[in-house]
Amino acid sequence: MGFFDDEEEYGEEDRLVQSTKGEYDVEENALRPKTLEAYVGQTKVKQNLQVYMNAAKKRGEVLEHVLLHGAPGLGKTTLAHIIASEMGGQLKLTSAPAIERSGDLAAILTNLNDGDVLFIDEIHRLNHSVEEILYSAMEDYALDIIVGKGPNARNIRFSLKKFTLIGATTRAGMISNPLRDRFGIICRLEMYTPAELKEIVTRSAKALNISVDDDAASEIARRSRGTPRIANRLLKRVRDFSTMNGNGSVTKKDAEFALSRMEIDALGLDEVDRSLLRAMIEKFDGKPVGLETLAATINEDAGTIEDVYEPYLLQLGFIARTPRGRIILRGGYEHLGYKMTDKQREQISMFDTDNGEN
Ligand SMILES: Nc1ncnc2c1ncn2[C@@H]1O[C@H](COP(=O)(O)OP(=O)(O)OP(=O)(O)O)[C@@H](O)[C@H]1O
Ligand SMILES: [Mg+2]
Repeated sequence: MGFFDDEEEYGEEDRLVQSTKGEYDVEENALRPKTLEAYVGQTKVKQNLQVYMNAAKKRGEVLEHVLLHGAPGLGKTTLAHIIASEMGGQLKLTSAPAIERSGDLAAILTNLNDGDVLFIDEIHRLNHSVEEILYSAMEDYALDIIVGKGPNARNIRFSLKKFTLIGATTRAGMISNPLRDRFGIICRLEMYTPAELKEIVTRSAKALNISVDDDAASEIARRSRGTPRIANRLLKRVRDFSTMNGNGSVTKKDAEFALSRMEIDALGLDEVDRSLLRAMIEKFDGKPVGLETLAATINEDAGTIEDVYEPYLLQLGFIARTPRGRIILRGGYEHLGYKMTDKQREQISMFDTDNGEN
């Protein structure tokens, strides 16, 4: 049934910068902060959650259902572990694609105990009949099952234990309104600052018993695209290079060498990011281009571009979303060393607040 209690293990991962799940090595678990205190950054989310959790405990109730959204690798699963452990409940992990039929979900729900936390990853991918089961489960802790067909159909209601659902998604916009409305708590995870990522790199280095210079930690942080999972991954790869060079401690030079060997540039962009930007300039001459067209041009999956590449390029202000598609902005041209033509400058004048005309 695709239901696992322990750790998620999704598909293979291929590229280094890609923030996909499933680095299935034991170290990943060692790197997950176990308490809200140890969870770096996301200050507002943490403060609010702390209040909600304390209040629920004080009233002797379970925590309301929580929806976590944010780009891959920002710490949604980690936060779910922390919430369950702070609330003293068992965490059950599953993901929407693994729940094929409403019976699968019914089985999961009836097996929950009071105070358990059910984590459903990629909750925007639930199919409709499964999602409908969730409505009464979330609202009334009840399972409505229809028995029979046609005029003889009857509704039977089973009661469930009081549990907390935590849904995680990278696509908040794809969640239906009835589902979204049933979450009492909605948290949006933001990209991390370089300072926060540096803290994560430093902690992870300690956990992995790697000695990393302060400068090296900054360098890795700066190139981690605002994402803790990438920071941890780069740290491990940099360690590999530095091990091969025989140094005891990772220096800034080691980090720079390793990162350039991985073709990760000063801002953390990799070859896919650059080819995406390049295509926007060379193939589309700086005009707005649709996501699907762009994806086909560089031979990438549109969903991957939307989830993994775009958020950081948008954050950097290298591209913008327009009603007519994605458009590359001045920063994107400059980063790749292109000089804008007048026509290209004109294209972006409507979207770029800093379009080089001043
Ligand atoms: N706030 C944080 N502080 C320290 N480390 C973190 C934090 N958030 C995430 N991490 C690290 O980053 C890794 C990835 O986080 P996590 O698996 O929770 O991301 P996710 O949002 O669930 O990603 P996905 O959308 O791909 O499922 C974790 O193993 C953890 O080590
Ligand atoms: Mg996750």
